[in-house]
Amino acid sequence: MRKAEEIRRAPIGIFDSGVGGISVVKALKRELPGEDLIFFGDSKNAPYGEKSVEEIRALSERSYQFLRGQRVKAVVIACNTATSAAAELLREENPGEIIVGMEPALKPAIENAGRERPEILVLATSSTLGGERFHKLAARLGMGARVHSLPAPEIVRMVEAGREDSDEMRSYLRELLRPYRRMADGTIRCPLDGLVLGCTHFPFAKRAIREVLSYPVPIYDGAEGTARETKHRLLQKALLSDRKSGGCVRLYSSLPDTELEERLLNKES
Ligand code: DGL
Repeated sequence: MRKAEEIRRAPIGIFDSGVGGISVVKALKRELPGEDLIFFGDSKNAPYGEKSVEEIRALSERSYQFLRGQRVKAVVIACNTATSAAAELLREENPGEIIVGMEPALKPAIENAGRERPEILVLATSSTLGGERFHKLAARLGMGARVHSLPAPEIVRMVEAGREDSDEMRSYLRELLRPYRRMADGTIRCPLDGLVLGCTHFPFAKRAIREVLSYPVPIYDGAEGTARETKHRLLQKALLSDRKSGGCVRLYSSLPDTELEERLLNKES
């Protein structure tokens, strides 16, 4: 048995299908500046979004075990797709362990829209949008809104390739967001009251998304909420570090280097 003091000093583990989870690492750094963080990105097997639930579960179990091997005190699944497919299974297999998952930030998007039946677009992976978890969430909250959803696998591929700010990204987004963006003649077929980024890779394409939409749309992602939830869960078990600052981040990838992770971690968002 590890002593409570030793566990308090242990790092928090975070995993994703690839580099997207770095958006959650950034939020965790802001929320919990005294904690050490260990990130594992499975870029070799990304994208997960079009794999079967069984494959995503097997890969998520491997990432989870890797982090446990690093003696982490909690695991954050910094991936909506892996949460949807594997969070329940991981919790069943590891009772008593802190496992924090993510879901598309539909609730704040609807609550903050400030009008009846707002038009909300959720961008996520096919796997997340097709999963039971999202269907339940949309059914629970969807009464108050018109929820549109679109899979956007190419954003994941381009972020993994380090092309989050490229012309290729903009031209993909122009096609994808055609009904929702302001066209050259000034018209918008379906003006949005909120856009939910339901995949942790997507915040890295935020600048390109804003540019393509060409009118102010509030954009939501789950990173801050996940960081707050992690803090809350650690606090509940009295496992927060005593340190108030100075936490470090260690990066691991299933690919040979972590250059892209480092660049995205240091990029201003
Ligand atoms: N970053 C992941 C998510 O939050 C999935 C990306 C992928 O591998 O398809 O859903």
